[in-house]
Amino acid sequence: MGGEQRAVVSARRLTKTFASAGGGRDVLNAVSLDIRAGDFTVIMGASGAGKSTLLYALSGMDRPTAGRVTFAGQDLSGLNESGLARFRRRHAGFVFQQIYLLDNLSLLDNAVVAGLLVTQNKAAIAARALALFERVRLDRDTILKLPSQVSGGEAQRAGIVRALINRPAVLFADEPTGALDQTSGTAVLDVLSAVHRSGQTVVMVTHDLKSARRGNRILFLRDGEVTGDLDLPPYRSRGGEERNARLRAFLDGQGW
Ligand SMILES: Nc1ncnc2c1ncn2[C@@H]1O[C@H](COP(=O)(O)OP(=O)(O)OP(=O)(O)O)[C@@H](O)[C@H]1O
Ligand SMILES: [Mg+2]
Repeated sequence: MGGEQRAVVSARRLTKTFASAGGGRDVLNAVSLDIRAGDFTVIMGASGAGKSTLLYALSGMDRPTAGRVTFAGQDLSGLNESGLARFRRRHAGFVFQQIYLLDNLSLLDNAVVAGLLVTQNKAAIAARALALFERVRLDRDTILKLPSQVSGGEAQRAGIVRALINRPAVLFADEPTGALDQTSGTAVLDVLSAVHRSGQTVVMVTHDLKSARRGNRILFLRDGEVTGDLDLPPYRSRGGEERNARLRAFLDGQGW
């Protein structure tokens, strides 16, 4: 740990403006931040604060109106649309509240197909997929089922495998437990914690205090500006009362 971690994503003066009837208003207002490699960064803030917009700009899913994002050494503004899509497939993993698996493919094949978009080595991809499914605790029977035949929590864990299949530099998650019941949500968070512990950089947007606890850094966004930035010790499943109290106090101070 310490202050010398490498920035894997750097945002400088990111502005995002959507054209609208009443003239544009800035959804992101000159946001500058670094995402450190190895961190589990959580982005919190009220509905409409610009969390998803920020996540999409950081990940190259969408372009800012102004400002610059450097991701894994690449200035994203220097890429055209197909270059950006290729870059994302290789370097970014995404998990959303809605789980976008292909209905007619098994969970396993959903992951393998995503891997084949980046490399043609099918044996290597299948081996990686099986190892990842083990890590998210989905057994052989389950991963041969179609998305419609599994629970929401199982489908989301398959979504995480698909997001990780190309060994992305950063796993981005936007409300990954937002559509799940408590038990399935906790299972998904446990997977994200385990993946982070193994070294994966994670950036997650959430509304939810339980989810936010999984992070070791919390950014608070209000009206398109970062108003709070808290470092925490790594999450542990037991204890951590003092850590929880610090997070609560931080969020209280942000008017959450
Ligand atoms: N494509 C778009 N066109 C116009 N306005 C948009 C667009 N996307 C987002 N906005 C507006 O930008 C603001 C921020 O949206 P964003 O989705 O980033 O918020 P959020 O913090 O993720 O909220 P939530 O917690 O509800 O998901 C909102 O006022 C939203 O209406
Ligand atoms: Mg959102």
